[in-house]
Amino acid sequence: MEQRLRELAQEALRALEGANTPEELNHIRVHYLGKKGEVTQVLRGMGALPAEERPRIGQVANEVREQIETALAARNQHVKEAQRSLRLAAETLDVSLPGVRFDLGKLHPLTQVLREIETIFLGLGFQIAEGPEIELDYYNFEALNLPKDHPARDMQDTFFINPEVLLRTHTSPVQVRTMEKTVPHVPVKVICPGRVYRRDDDATHSPMFHQVEGLVVDKQITFADLKGVLATFARQMFGPATRTRLRPSYFPFTEPSAEVDISCFNCQGSGCRVCKGSGWLEILGSGMVHPRVLEMSGYNPEEVTGFAFGMGVERIAMLKYGIDDLRLLFDNDIRFLEQF
Ligand code: FA5
Ligand code: MG
Repeated sequence: MEQRLRELAQEALRALEGANTPEELNHIRVHYLGKKGEVTQVLRGMGALPAEERPRIGQVANEVREQIETALAARNQHVKEAQRSLRLAAETLDVSLPGVRFDLGKLHPLTQVLREIETIFLGLGFQIAEGPEIELDYYNFEALNLPKDHPARDMQDTFFINPEVLLRTHTSPVQVRTMEKTVPHVPVKVICPGRVYRRDDDATHSPMFHQVEGLVVDKQITFADLKGVLATFARQMFGPATRTRLRPSYFPFTEPSAEVDISCFNCQGSGCRVCKGSGWLEILGSGMVHPRVLEMSGYNPEEVTGFAFGMGVERIAMLKYGIDDLRLLFDNDIRFLEQF
């Protein structure tokens, strides 16, 4: 019996040397040590032995079992390591290869510029007001001192829906709507961003574009306030060295009126391609709110005064980024948009 046990041990060890998977190892374990395994079966025969032989055979059986278990554990470790290095070899990773690039979405340049404008004016204590894009003739023109047959209506070629309803040509009607809501209280201090529409279409004029209107109404507002606010805006938007210049202009709803130019950020005023040699760039229209406009909105022009301004967002974006054709902003060509 001892002989048989030793043979089984040798057999098991040899089998283990050829085992290369956890399944094979398990199979061997069951085959020798399992309930119906070879070693177990030999031990079952112990009952037939003379009593004095039993302890010795029992000891041999334990030795053999231990021997097989130790060999199993060692082979198991070996198989695991072999499988691991096989897997690593198969999964070779070339760390010098470039990684997978994820495309990040970004805001449209117009949205970026609009948010920048809003942030600057919010910092100056302005609030944001909005109004409808489909507007009454009354708010777009009449209440802004542009009666029905006023020749200055020709400055803004208009999409009419019917004689009283139109697509707003500027954000100025929001001035009137805001004043009507606030009167008789002061101050009014708002910017009004939004889409506007005109019958225009070329490299610097689009049928739909964006404006940001500004309006301040309070006691003792002067032209100096207008100049201070717009100079501050220009420095924050275009850099601290930016100078501003006011040129006399005309709008029916402001008196006096001024176009605001900034010193060219490209050449600092000496003249270049961006400013077409003049050293200056026009950025917006502005002026002191016309007394008739204040009056029509319910304010007493003897008690309060105000200033207003309006800028084209596409125009500012074109200046800031050196874009020479406004239509690029609306083509949605990803190669263009990616640059901002
Ligand atoms: C106005 O619209 C006045 N409401 C601005 C204003 C407000 C003056 C308050 C005084 C007080 P204007 O028509 O110049 O003004 O237009 C303002 C700006 O809109 C222009 O300077 C230009 O930057 C932009 N703009 C005008 N037409 C177009 C267009 N078709 N496409 C893109 N931008 C345009
Ligand atoms: Mg103009």
